[in-house]
Amino acid sequence: MTMSYGPLLFLGILLTLASSWVGLVLMPHRQLGSLTQHTDTNTAAIFPAARAGEAQQGAEHYRSLGCVYCHTQQVRPEGYGSDLERGWGRRRTVSRDYIHDRTVMLGTMRTGPDLTNIGERQSDAAWHYRHLYNPQITSPGSIMPPHAFLFETRAIGPSGRSTNALVLEGAFAPPAGTEVVPTRRAEQLVAYLRSLKSSGDLPEAPVKKEEAK
Ligand code: HEC
Repeated sequence: MTMSYGPLLFLGILLTLASSWVGLVLMPHRQLGSLTQHTDTNTAAIFPAARAGEAQQGAEHYRSLGCVYCHTQQVRPEGYGSDLERGWGRRRTVSRDYIHDRTVMLGTMRTGPDLTNIGERQSDAAWHYRHLYNPQITSPGSIMPPHAFLFETRAIGPSGRSTNALVLEGAFAPPAGTEVVPTRRAEQLVAYLRSLKSSGDLPEAPVKKEEAK
């Protein structure tokens, strides 16, 4: 008499797939899916704050331009690396930090510094424009590619230089009579970079208090 192992095999495969679905989809969703913003009972500050529309658009540019290939957005806890010592954040990042992100750009490569907290580290928009236009201006020797295509070089109008024109000197200055201004894409990207802040105190990841104020 020959026995058919078909049903048994089917059951085995079903169980394997079902258990991995429970472990990799259902359980994480139950643990993390309902995370909400945290309200600080002392200061009434809400964190993480939702991104303004302009910055949200910028997140799409960050994604499409491939910034994530060279930059991470995750700060490791104390003892797992020197992220905090390098000043990449004031605390480690946790799942709640990413609740507003549709595409979470954690990144895997650190060719450049982690950008989790760049909005706090460098809040000056003019710095970001010059750096994006050509990293050599602010960071001589940088291997980050220039993003001059996010800017427009145009003739200076009769009323003089535009208020948003980049201040470029020496070898970086555009031809006489012209100016360099950011496009909408650059403005949105910089709004996004300036929105990157991990300064909020969370119960599961308190900000390390500075010793002497
Ligand atoms: C080929 C790798 C590479 C790519 C792609 C890249 N960067 Fe960078 N980035 C670097 C390196 C290296 C540095 C450090 C030197 C410097 O400041 O330019 C850096 C620095 C930075 C800094 C300053 C960080 C600090 O702590 O001072 C910002 C902001 C930044 N990059 C934003 C971006 C954005 C936005 C994009 C996408 C449009 C991008 N980078 C794409 C390599 C890269």
